[in-house]
Amino acid sequence: MALHQVDNRKDDVFASSELGKPAGAYKFPAKEQSERGSYQLVHDELMLDGNARMNLATFCTTWEEPEVRALMDESISKNMIDKDEYPQTAELEMRCVHMLADLWNSPAAATTMGCSTTGSSEAAMLGGLAMKWRWRERMQKLGKPFGKPNLITGPVQICWHKFARYWDIEIREIPMERDHYISTPEKVIALCDENTIGVVATLGTTFTLQYEPVAAIAAALDKLQADTGLDIPLHVDGASGGFLAPFIEPDLVWDFRLSRVKSINASGHKFGLSPLGVGWVLWREKSDLPEDLIFYVNYLGGNMATFALNFSRPGGQIVAQYYNFIRLGREGYRKVQQSCYDAGMFFAGELKKFGIFDILSCGDKGVIPGVCWKLKPNAQVKFNLYDLADRLRSRGWLVPAYSLPPHAEDVVIQRILVRHGVSKDLLAKLTADLKDAVAYFEKHPVEKGHLSAKEASGFRH
Ligand SMILES: Cc1ncc(COP(=O)(O)O)c(C=O)c1O
Repeated sequence: MALHQVDNRKDDVFASSELGKPAGAYKFPAKEQSERGSYQLVHDELMLDGNARMNLATFCTTWEEPEVRALMDESISKNMIDKDEYPQTAELEMRCVHMLADLWNSPAAATTMGCSTTGSSEAAMLGGLAMKWRWRERMQKLGKPFGKPNLITGPVQICWHKFARYWDIEIREIPMERDHYISTPEKVIALCDENTIGVVATLGTTFTLQYEPVAAIAAALDKLQADTGLDIPLHVDGASGGFLAPFIEPDLVWDFRLSRVKSINASGHKFGLSPLGVGWVLWREKSDLPEDLIFYVNYLGGNMATFALNFSRPGGQIVAQYYNFIRLGREGYRKVQQSCYDAGMFFAGELKKFGIFDILSCGDKGVIPGVCWKLKPNAQVKFNLYDLADRLRSRGWLVPAYSLPPHAEDVVIQRILVRHGVSKDLLAKLTADLKDAVAYFEKHPVEKGHLSAKEASGFRH
């Protein structure tokens, strides 16, 4: 028997038959094999992934407390949809909704409508659908046609493009300018008409991390209603900012304190600090969520109201979200998020010392913790930001370079997110590697053949 055919639990795993050949890729395996060998194969393949902690492109959680891991493990078999079978998990979900309603200053936190989702994308879809339904009801009542809905946004994350395409809605996205990257109330109002189902303002845009001026947009929509009778709801995409502003800038008015804000989404798995797979969407009042969108099912025991795109969904992330809320409270979240902002500002200070970068956004007011920069127009360097991203990748860092959307597509920027677990020490290491990379290009200038957006480590969220 050849050594690689040995299949005895006493043998070294690398001498087992499982490891004696490459793992399959295209054909469904005919035979079973041991869990030990299979685990080793899968484990080793995953070594080729990047190190999540060094992925500075993502907004999502990459560090969890051991207690979160324990709760995730305990919840692995619990299906969020089986609310009758797992009433306490369902109870924790509703507690999270009410706590978020309180955090976002709902006029009636104890009765606010809301639910968990798989992330902000699903939450955005649900928020958008509610706007579409309400608009259609209004048009039907007025006896007007309702075949051409539109949605007005600033520079939004791709989930809103998906929402518009999947549900046949015209998206009117305010284009960026070369030196202005978010919407303004004037530009929003200029696009509104009677077919507008709603306006989306983002608290922390994906491209430059900046908060859009939610209160000013709300005031402009109030004035529009007073002037023309058009009553257009405002949805806030607080994917990141929904878990930042309440702790760091409690006086910033962006949430349900504004009566124009009818719904808010946020990602529990971003600055909500929970593991991947949880988002939230809340409506201001019961009437803002059309009853028509809620399904009632009786085949899980009880009569369950569901409003979600998926049916089965893991419960652990929601349990972990509740853990984080009671573990950290406002005080703990403030400390965690402030330390992210502080680390981001430390890194921006280091970047400035290079003398070749312009900082586009950084600070602890009106932005997500992180830094966006571009090359100074007159920087005497022999590389572009795609080259730099690629060089940093060879040290394990993912620091994406990307061009901005229309009409600022000739602006190429680089960005890091500073999340829970991205410490000043880690950023000092990144600074040292950045210095080495710049010195490398001094010695080995990229005269021609700069990397393009496609070739370098691209824009990821
Ligand atoms: C502003 C904004 N909205 C929505 C999303 C989508 O969120 P998720 O990845 O939770 O689906 C993101 C993701 O980065 C985002 O930044």
